[in-house]
Amino acid sequence: LPKTFVLNNGVQIPTVGLGTWQAPLNATRDAVSFALQQGYRHLDCAYIYLNEREVGEGIRASGVPRSEVFVTSKVWNLFQDDVAGNLEKTLDNLGLDYVDLYNTSLTLGVLQLVHWPIKFLPADAGAPNPLRPLNPDGTYKVDRTWDQGVTWAGMEAVYAAGKARAIGVCNWSIPYLEALAKSWKVVPAVNQVENHPFLPQHALKAWCDARGILLEAYSPLGGPGAPVLQDEDIVAVAKRNGVTPATVLISYQVNRGIVPLPKSVSHERLVQNLRVVRLSAEDMALLDGLAAKGKAQRLNKPPFCWDLGFDDWD
Ligand code: A2P
Repeated sequence: LPKTFVLNNGVQIPTVGLGTWQAPLNATRDAVSFALQQGYRHLDCAYIYLNEREVGEGIRASGVPRSEVFVTSKVWNLFQDDVAGNLEKTLDNLGLDYVDLYNTSLTLGVLQLVHWPIKFLPADAGAPNPLRPLNPDGTYKVDRTWDQGVTWAGMEAVYAAGKARAIGVCNWSIPYLEALAKSWKVVPAVNQVENHPFLPQHALKAWCDARGILLEAYSPLGGPGAPVLQDEDIVAVAKRNGVTPATVLISYQVNRGIVPLPKSVSHERLVQNLRVVRLSAEDMALLDGLAAKGKAQRLNKPPFCWDLGFDDWD
């Protein structure tokens, strides 16, 4: 099985990335440093994870040359009208200065993604969490008139400026992608979505494959608590192959040409999650079919995204 996939602009992306969502601040630096020393070469970050400083410290502490690490980040919903500004903050957090990044932009992979196809409005003065602005009734302050084509033009600008070696999207369903396709000049390199056998997203994968857009799988184990690991069919495939359920779920994605982004801060699990095995056609068919057999489940459903086509789980 390949160690890297090739994006639609020729950039190579390591097939397994380390997820950093919900990595606690006091464990992030160690997890990143340890992971890089063990052989990870791909880190999936985001401005809103609020731990990019610790990720940057982990990269430096690892001793692994920056040029060997593929780093992804994501513009947060609040800053879709200032993609370049949000990317600068991320680069500052990660500890990459502007000129250095400019010079090394061909060796340090920074993949910049739109985090959700939704723009937040600024919070009211004194709001408890300005990054997650709420209306008085507790719903999110969302700009329903915002044109995602404008966000994408901002993404194309940072790409053209050499600040991101590739650009992509996250959490986009087919209708959103179809709308964007009317105005995109640069085709997204990736679409990062929740993906595991309970939410295999076959139709989205076919749509993206046809256009050269690589899918990335977040929550490949089911997210916090890793609920998919407990499934009896997954456990049976693991036993048959003499591997752990986590190895089955991570390998499932690489075998179908998707980049899994498992998250862990435990050393033992970090090592385990780097292991990828070839699965038989029968095992792949079984895993591909679990959702259709009544196990369909979306495990991440943030309240601001009630209308993103989230009930498609073919
Ligand atoms: P922890 O960080 O304490 O290791 P996902 O990758 O789907 O987002 O799942 C992440 C969750 O799964 C986290 O709760 C993580 O906990 C746990 N996890 C990660 N790797 C493994 C593994 N190999 N076996 C069991 N649980 C795991």
